[in-house]
Amino acid sequence: MAITDVTAKMRSNEEILGRSDLNDADAILAITTLDETDVIHAVEDNADAIFTWGYDKGERAKLDKLYEKAKTSQWNATTDLDWSTEVDIEKMVREQNFAMSGSHELAPPFDLSNTPLKSWGDKEFLEFGIEAQNHLLSQFMHGEQGALLCTAKIVETVPWIDAKYYAATQVVDEARHVEVFSRYLDEKLEGNYPINAHLRMLLDDIINDSRWDMTYLGMQIMVEGLALAAFGMLHQTTQEPLLKKLLRYVMSDEARHVAFGVLSLEEYYQELSSAELRERQEFAYEAAVRMRDRFLQQEVWQRYDIDVAPLIPMIQQDPGRILFQQLLFSKIVPNCKKLGLLDAGVPEGQKGWLRERFEEMDVIQFEDFADTGDEYLELDAVAQDREAATA
Ligand SMILES: [Fe+2]
Ligand SMILES: [Fe+2]
Repeated sequence: MAITDVTAKMRSNEEILGRSDLNDADAILAITTLDETDVIHAVEDNADAIFTWGYDKGERAKLDKLYEKAKTSQWNATTDLDWSTEVDIEKMVREQNFAMSGSHELAPPFDLSNTPLKSWGDKEFLEFGIEAQNHLLSQFMHGEQGALLCTAKIVETVPWIDAKYYAATQVVDEARHVEVFSRYLDEKLEGNYPINAHLRMLLDDIINDSRWDMTYLGMQIMVEGLALAAFGMLHQTTQEPLLKKLLRYVMSDEARHVAFGVLSLEEYYQELSSAELRERQEFAYEAAVRMRDRFLQQEVWQRYDIDVAPLIPMIQQDPGRILFQQLLFSKIVPNCKKLGLLDAGVPEGQKGWLRERFEEMDVIQFEDFADTGDEYLELDAVAQDREAATA
């Protein structure tokens, strides 16, 4: 196949996303959470468990270094966080709103007079802010469980011993992350939300895929790349000490996880054909859109029994929200670039398919931000705190 044929064969939005217009709000909202009462959700993982008899530790030096780092940077959610901290939820919501918008006003900055929110005042918006915080942390918790299952799958499916060793440490990290978000929701907030339908579709797709590198691309590059950016923003905007420390410690682990994805795929993608890389581009795009769709927080609006559809055009023009949505991609885009996915399949100097998709999503401006190959050394909270304690 000629190299220029590759882009022509990319699947359409309709085929990848089930809708032709990326921004079709009705189609996004039509996908709703089901089975809220079911506790168990089973997904086919379609993969062989792979033994390797090549036990040479350190054959992949960068993965070995990451593994050694992971062993010395473990923390204990029970004893390293102060769970006796009293959390003032209202204060937390107000502080975060101020940090994001620069205003003490909780109402969004647009005319609500012809909307279902016309009678809402400070009290209602505060309540909504508490619900939205609850929803956000609930999705973090569910996403962490997705990471736990995906990484357990990687232990089985990756053919390299250094990657199996590292992934095993990540499994422990992810168990701890599920634990901390679950405990925070349970003890410090009130109740939690079921998994968002878009996030669940994405996690199901990642686990369904039989190819070991797709687990990495979906989880370590896309979901964890977005999580690292989202945790970073929340860490910067919250003053609540328990959440702040919790996020700093989780980010310290997440930076290693994203590095694990970058270091592993960087090597593996060298071997792939243009057609195989094309499938990776499409998968990255699907993941990016599903994650963006979930930030409409439709389950919160459902709880209020408000039809959010007429509000969407306004919500989408809120400058604070636009910035937040863009920044979510500040780790993903440079990492996709480092992996060669932005412009794979086209001759040098031409725009690649994934680059064009990221342009449509208005996130391509992050392509030259630092990639996450070794950011984990800077974000190592455990090592920093240990050093400070002995100084
Ligand atoms: Fe995690
Ligand atoms: Fe992670």
